[in-house]
Amino acid sequence: MQPEQTAQEQRKAPLRRYLMCRPTYFDVTYSINPWMDPDRPTSADTGLAQWKGLFDTFVGLGHDVQLIEPVPGLPDMVFSANGAIVVDGKVLVARFRHSQRREESEAYLEWFGHGAWTTVAQAEYVNEGEGDFLFTGREILAGTGFRTDSRAHDEVREFFGRPVISLTLVDPRFYHLDTALAVLGEEEIMYYPGAFSPQSRVALAERFPDAILANEADAAVFGLNALSDGRNVVLPRGATGLAVQLRERGYLPIGSDLTELLKAGGSVKCCTLELRE
Ligand code: ARG
Repeated sequence: MQPEQTAQEQRKAPLRRYLMCRPTYFDVTYSINPWMDPDRPTSADTGLAQWKGLFDTFVGLGHDVQLIEPVPGLPDMVFSANGAIVVDGKVLVARFRHSQRREESEAYLEWFGHGAWTTVAQAEYVNEGEGDFLFTGREILAGTGFRTDSRAHDEVREFFGRPVISLTLVDPRFYHLDTALAVLGEEEIMYYPGAFSPQSRVALAERFPDAILANEADAAVFGLNALSDGRNVVLPRGATGLAVQLRERGYLPIGSDLTELLKAGGSVKCCTLELRE
């Protein structure tokens, strides 16, 4: 038996709950990140088929996938990661930076309002949900630089009563934290150092000395926009180097094709919001 097989068998994948949004109205009609070119044609059918592939992958892994109803006129709503932060049964609903996405918050407030959550509130400062806030199992890693207001980091610290590590993004291609960093397991992460300011790189290296470091080619195909259940790591199919690195660490990489949604600057993680009781 290969040593890495042993390691893979040791990794546990407890059942996860995710919230997704069908890309019924998916389109690129405006540009709020460098990936979005409204002149480039998109196909809602292809987007839907690829998204369905991701949905089926999560269900196939045994996870519970909930759905929020898409709203006409909100083409980016498929990126449910941005809708909220859900940790310890508490929900902080997003406040979007751009007017084109602002109405999405209403839909999330309503959806969470019908669930059994301890607290549901909307963020006071600009806060793009799990796009910029990632829970490690202990603390919350918080991104700023392009979308989320740095004051939102203090708000999140107070709201969840968890330590928050602030990180500054500097490369416009990686405008949300979840495009440059992914949490893999208990306090284990992978990231692309080039997306972060020098101080943030130091902070990451100190806190996560054993992190997997992605190269630029894997980051550029959104390889870090990945979702791990602690054992299986679903990531964009093009991130072949990362897949090898993950396997070496005992994870099971699962390639997913979401190239149509990448035209809007999103992939696996952007399409998935984790619901933590
Ligand atoms: N077009 C969307 C935007 O620019 C993409 C969001 C991607 N979501 C994410 N969690 N990174 O807001």
